[in-house]
Amino acid sequence: VQTLFDVIEARLPSRLELFSKLTKEFSDVTLHNMTVGNVMGGMRGLPCILWEVSGTDKAGITYHGKSLRELQEVLPKWRGSDQTSPEAMIWYLYSGSIPNRAELEQFAADLAARAEVPAEVEEFCDSLSPDISSTAQLIMCLTVWANHSKFSDALMSGAPRNKLWRYALEDALDSHVGTPLISARIYANKYRDGRDRTAPLNPLGDIAENFAIRMGRKGDTDFTELIRMYWSLHMDHGANVSAHTMRLSSSAWTDPYLTLASGLISGTGVLHAGAIMQALRYNQAMVAAIGPEPSPEAVETYICRTLEKGHVVPGYGHALLRSADPRLEPITRFINTRPITDSGSSEQGKMLRLIAHNSTIVPDILRRHVPRMKSTAPNVDSLSGCLMYAHGLDIDFILLVMGCSRGMGFMAQYVWDRALGLPIERPLSVTMDQIMAKL
Ligand code: MLT
Repeated sequence: VQTLFDVIEARLPSRLELFSKLTKEFSDVTLHNMTVGNVMGGMRGLPCILWEVSGTDKAGITYHGKSLRELQEVLPKWRGSDQTSPEAMIWYLYSGSIPNRAELEQFAADLAARAEVPAEVEEFCDSLSPDISSTAQLIMCLTVWANHSKFSDALMSGAPRNKLWRYALEDALDSHVGTPLISARIYANKYRDGRDRTAPLNPLGDIAENFAIRMGRKGDTDFTELIRMYWSLHMDHGANVSAHTMRLSSSAWTDPYLTLASGLISGTGVLHAGAIMQALRYNQAMVAAIGPEPSPEAVETYICRTLEKGHVVPGYGHALLRSADPRLEPITRFINTRPITDSGSSEQGKMLRLIAHNSTIVPDILRRHVPRMKSTAPNVDSLSGCLMYAHGLDIDFILLVMGCSRGMGFMAQYVWDRALGLPIERPLSVTMDQIMAKL
């Protein structure tokens, strides 16, 4: 059975050849006419960041040429699971190939063998005040973890440039298992007085199962399946804010751990992944104001009041997508096939049902009241936070579940950054006066 190292090694010559062809033969070909609007609009619409694992346009994202829906059909699932396996997705992002059953099993076993976080990081984690947000705790833990980077050691000891990707992959694989484990430890320390933070892992389990074990959710199939589904959806979405931040850090050869920390930092922004929490808080406020089973008219009135105050309705529209977010489909399927049973009458369960229903009626309300909105379709944030909340996760921790996944996906790009020898990102800055002078 081939390892991920073998598969990347085999793919590398053809990718290097293409890289060299594009760089040497087509360097002067115009790809896009950059407009003042592109510059004024936060580089919106500029196809200018080289990405190995996926490509985006207004229709959405394809991963090595395949849509999310196609991938959900062809990627293997973990034993006994209905969801796309995060390990299979990780393998695919790195390699562009669908792992067969033996490769998936072997890959998961390789990862399980790395399920050890340096003691220094664990001790540091345990020393943190529970008042510090979960995301800030993970960011701090990653800065300590950077002391153990195999990539940094290789760099310091003068490893050949064309071998650096192997050391980067070592760190990346360690982080794929380690980041969820340290996140679960943060959860245990913050919410469970440290209980289960050293619970025995299942060496034959996948990352999601072991994450659940350390969060005190051993045997909770719905929760483990939720994590598998969520992680496999959020690994990569092209040059979004957190991934772009990591791409920039990576381009300067920042080590993998600090690169992950940089992505988590920008991920907290409410216009980016912080929107998951914004949407959840908005929905909680809505339920508090109009109850868990309001009429469509009451929902419309509530939304109009939000708009009158000049606020946006979180969870609708997207910086790039102009139609329904494909990531919502698996989330909706999950909600429909695995209803919250034991807490069905709970506040969280009722809110989830309301928000799932709202995502079918709010786009039309927004279309009528905000005609300038380019897209009123619900995005993944409209439901994902609510779903995790309904499965018992505290709001503060939800962003970390997303962060683990985004980090897993970006590490594939990080390794290819090194393998292809991509240059440092260094655009020119331009002032409005300089733009005016060119017109
Ligand atoms: C994401 O996946 O990070 C969000 O949908 C934001 C984006 O893609 O720009």
